[in-house]
Amino acid sequence: MSGHGTPKPMTAQRSGPLKGTAEVPGDKSISHRSLILGAMAVGETKVTGLLEGQDVLDTAAAMRAFGAEVIRHGQGNWSVFGVGVGGFREPEQVLDCGNSGTGVRLIMGAMATSDMTVTFTGDASLRKRPMARVTDPLALFGTQAHGRKGGRLPMTLVGAAQPVPVRYEVPVPSAQVKSAVLLAGLNAPGDTVVIEREATRDHSERMLAGFGAQVHVEKTAQGNVITLTGQPELRPQEVAVPRDPSSAAFPVCAALIVEGSDIFVPGVSQNLTRNGLYPTLVEMGADITFENVREEGGEPVADLRVKFSSLKGIEVPPERAPSMIDEYPILSVVAAFAEGRTVMRGVKELRVKESDRIDAMARGLEACGVRIEEDEDTLIVHGMGGAVPGGATVAVHLDHRIAMSFLVLGMAAKAPVTVDDGEAISTSFPIFGALMTGLGADIRA
Ligand code: S3P
Repeated sequence: MSGHGTPKPMTAQRSGPLKGTAEVPGDKSISHRSLILGAMAVGETKVTGLLEGQDVLDTAAAMRAFGAEVIRHGQGNWSVFGVGVGGFREPEQVLDCGNSGTGVRLIMGAMATSDMTVTFTGDASLRKRPMARVTDPLALFGTQAHGRKGGRLPMTLVGAAQPVPVRYEVPVPSAQVKSAVLLAGLNAPGDTVVIEREATRDHSERMLAGFGAQVHVEKTAQGNVITLTGQPELRPQEVAVPRDPSSAAFPVCAALIVEGSDIFVPGVSQNLTRNGLYPTLVEMGADITFENVREEGGEPVADLRVKFSSLKGIEVPPERAPSMIDEYPILSVVAAFAEGRTVMRGVKELRVKESDRIDAMARGLEACGVRIEEDEDTLIVHGMGGAVPGGATVAVHLDHRIAMSFLVLGMAAKAPVTVDDGEAISTSFPIFGALMTGLGADIRA
């Protein structure tokens, strides 16, 4: 869905204490993967708790274009009738992945080792993002890519008719790149090996094993060495998608900075490759208790009780970045309300997300009266000990997490904060406004 309609500004005002339960929707990463792997299995994969955000709906449409039957039974309750590894048919139309880097990069991997030609596009945000990080390793399988200058969409991939397995060391910490190579390896004979120096989210490895592929992860001094044996017959699964910890971050952080708040957030992932935000918040002095630790949908989860807290700035360990990469925008809002400096280093990957998130946060925070420092790889926020002025209109650059972050800031700032366009929120967290309002936030479209 790359059309973008009239901008929809949204405004958040200083809000009363947040109370109640925040049931956030399904995990975006796992939702994409359940549709793609479901389409590559033979038979019916049943998915519950699927995130019905626009990003995931675009991936569902893409899987239909490859010949899988994808059916919605009811809220979050879907079936995918897969066509098997190597069973994709060539889409008749250009595939539009909307706003989703995960969607386009994983789908490129999934088709790269099939004898077909596919053209990909996306919205104005996705058309700016680098695709060479995926098409470079796919070229090792024999896949050709023809895109715009700088490896940008629209881009046509010619899948390898006779793919060879590859061994690839991922040069940037990226679960999308790792996953694209693994998905391409599914239809190549022999063993495909991916080496990642820094561990990134491991949903693909977990789910590939769940669907019956042979995946072996070895932890070595060089990092994780992941070996996938090609051309398996994937078995359809029943996937219960757990809640999205990156979405949970918004009510959690809002409760920490809105005075008097006390909320309950059930089922938040404790997967160590995803939950770096939580130790960070605890180090800042956050009052969060982790209750009822258990497994849900194959992921470790806990219920969180979160109370308004007085926070202090910290140095976030750079090696933690891959496990909290999507949470830096909302963390920098929390940092603005803390006492002292919060230093976020090793975060240059933020520059190639749905927007340049270092720049978007820096400009927005400055507009809201917060002092920041930045360089290519760093964002430093000078906390104001609770007294953040706000009172600005912030540009979100088609980035859902920038929009939600500044609405949370507006809930605790002295003066209201407007985001110039809240539309992108529907890509990952369509019920954000309703959920926050239900807790006591004053957010208006
Ligand atoms: C994702 C990986 C991350 C993350 C994105 C989801 C995934 O991107 O930012 O929101 O599902 O694999 P990178 O692989 O670019 O780090």
